[in-house]
Amino acid sequence: MSSHVMPTYNRLAVTFERGEGAWLWDENGKRYLDALSGIAVCGLGHAHPAIHQAICKQSEKLLHTSNIYRIAVQEQLADKLIDLSGMDNVFFGNSGAEVNEAAIKLARKFAHELGVSNPAIIVTDGSFHGRTLATLSATGNAKIQKGFEPLVEGFIRVPYNDIAAIKSAIELNPNIVAILVEPIQGEGGINIPASDYLNNIRQLCNQHNLLMMLDEIQTGMGRTGKFLAYQHNDILPDVCTLAKALGNGVPIGACLASGKAATLFTAGNHGSTFGGNPLACSAALAVLETLDKDNLIATAETKGLAICSGLAGLLQNNPHIIEIRHKGLMIGIELDTPCAELVQKALANGLLINVTQDKVIRLLPPLIIDDMQIQQLIDMLALLIGQFTEQLSPVSDHAA
Ligand SMILES: Cc1ncc(COP(=O)(O)O)c(C=O)c1O
Repeated sequence: MSSHVMPTYNRLAVTFERGEGAWLWDENGKRYLDALSGIAVCGLGHAHPAIHQAICKQSEKLLHTSNIYRIAVQEQLADKLIDLSGMDNVFFGNSGAEVNEAAIKLARKFAHELGVSNPAIIVTDGSFHGRTLATLSATGNAKIQKGFEPLVEGFIRVPYNDIAAIKSAIELNPNIVAILVEPIQGEGGINIPASDYLNNIRQLCNQHNLLMMLDEIQTGMGRTGKFLAYQHNDILPDVCTLAKALGNGVPIGACLASGKAATLFTAGNHGSTFGGNPLACSAALAVLETLDKDNLIATAETKGLAICSGLAGLLQNNPHIIEIRHKGLMIGIELDTPCAELVQKALANGLLINVTQDKVIRLLPPLIIDDMQIQQLIDMLALLIGQFTEQLSPVSDHAA
């Protein structure tokens, strides 16, 4: 392994060489079922022919020009995203953190236009918004912030899924100009809020003239069974960020704005050399076309349900399972005990999963996963969880 890469990741000792659909092969030819999709990136699986063709075709013509010129494929992608989201316009970046930075800058610009010189954005415990200075300051995880102080000012933290806490923060602080939340917390442990959480946030934002900003970097692109998770609630945010699955592995992010948020940025306010370049946009366009053509968004919910009910059936007598929860193909299996070692055990058995918040097994399988692979995933994971929990001490009987 190269010693010249900064050790910012605790990497698993495996190197993948190729992939096809939901499968990956390592350098020794061993096959793995990918139930993580590069952490919600490869929604269409690996080596998808439509993405391959789009990238090849575009690279024959142009990889990059500059945002100082018009870019036809960027404008086509913007049109398509606006069509699908109901938002008004888009800024393109290269990653989740970069487009969340754009969202934070929109909130600051909104504040200054209102005459608020010391603006604050409400953010939540357990959130994850990225690793740049502003986005790690917005993130609700002290471990991610430690060592990088002073943090960027202007974030007020409340518990997730707690509307009363948002209301009292608004009452206490006249400088609040925006609320930034994930529709479902991913890194935070697949935390699914009350079904009216986003509606209530929308209402509070309307009432107090705040920007409602949704980080859909993990939840977007069909993962929860709608193109965007807010579409389950029939609302429109003022700002919404997308990245991860937008390019199926080609780096691209989008910050979408609507209404008053869509008129805030003017020439010179923000920029990005690579953001929205022809290569990335052609990949993203192919992703959107494939999601539609293969009806992958509608089937995300039935596939997620099949995985969860299959696991629930096989694990019904396992007292260490606290909860199996999901929205579409965003799945969390919460245990009563730290279970990070399951990642290594699954890897050894040819299955890629993730554990977040120590006790939550996180599954983000590709949207193209088929029935046979779903059954394999259920069988392998239930067996691994069973073997893992068997060696734990018995759960105490609360009645005793
Ligand atoms: C909800 C959410 N926001 C932001 C990010 C940061 O995205 P990136 O790593 O592309 O900067 C992530 C990445 O995991 C995420 O899940």
